[in-house]
Amino acid sequence: MITETTSQKAQAYYEQAEAMYVSLYGPNFHHGYWPRPDDGTTYEQALENLTGQIIDRVGAGPRDRVLDVGCGIGGPAIRLARTTGAHVVGISNVATQVEQATARAGAENLAGQARFEQADALEMPFPDDSFDAAIAIESLIHMDRDPALREIARVLRPGGVLVAADFCLNAVVTPERQRVLDRYRDLDSLSSFHRLDEFPPMLRRAGLEPVELLDASSHVEKSVKMWWERTEADLENLTDQYGKQELDDFIGLFDDVINHGGPEYLIFTARKPGGPSRN
Ligand SMILES: C[S@@+](CC[C@H](N)C(=O)[O-])C[C@H]1O[C@@H](n2cnc3c(N)ncnc32)[C@H](O)[C@@H]1O
Repeated sequence: MITETTSQKAQAYYEQAEAMYVSLYGPNFHHGYWPRPDDGTTYEQALENLTGQIIDRVGAGPRDRVLDVGCGIGGPAIRLARTTGAHVVGISNVATQVEQATARAGAENLAGQARFEQADALEMPFPDDSFDAAIAIESLIHMDRDPALREIARVLRPGGVLVAADFCLNAVVTPERQRVLDRYRDLDSLSSFHRLDEFPPMLRRAGLEPVELLDASSHVEKSVKMWWERTEADLENLTDQYGKQELDDFIGLFDDVINHGGPEYLIFTARKPGGPSRN
């Protein structure tokens, strides 16, 4: 069952914007990660790099059961299963994403190791303490953090880790930037933005101990320019699908973020206390 409010808004958003996401991101529905801003890393490689940043921090192995919260069309979960040997369960609130992720896992002969189901991250159909680790790449951005983190903490076993990529605020929010943030939140069905220093108490409230909080903004900021270029390159097709107004809104947002700055970008690791340590 999908709960009301932010979950349903995000579900409708992804149902509507799916083709745009596939066109902009391929199987990794998230920002790119550039080790250095102008180091020659291609956009495709940068998308994979961000997935790699998350997988490296999880440190999973073949005996681990890993949850991917908000799995998109499965790029990160399938790579995690393939490269670590772990068993991965991905959940998304969008049925077509689950179908695509399942087909991708099958095509890579990983159906027994990476499976996907439609579920709401705020009310997951899993018992307590049932995963060794969880990842959440740009999915918490759509959720009220307190209940979402509590729910992830519930299904992690003691000693299990959560590695997430999330938005945060770390620089000064000028009135102009606040306008961009409001627009971003509305257009992308985001939940509230939180300051970086709010994360440690937020994680502790959910029953998780912060391990690492990294402001990775400088590594991901080139992504918006890439979205702009990709959208321009596929403009005719995307306009046919979404209409001119919708496309103008998105391109306007990209311009705004490039000119005035969007949210900062946080990669964090947190651990459920107790049990054997993993990291
Ligand atoms: C930006 S995409 C990231 C997808 C994936 N983590 C990746 O990096 O490729 C956000 C994902 O979160 C999912 N999502 C948002 N709110 C959710 C909720 N309440 N329950 C389950 N999935 C949710 C969306 O459907 C989408 O798959």
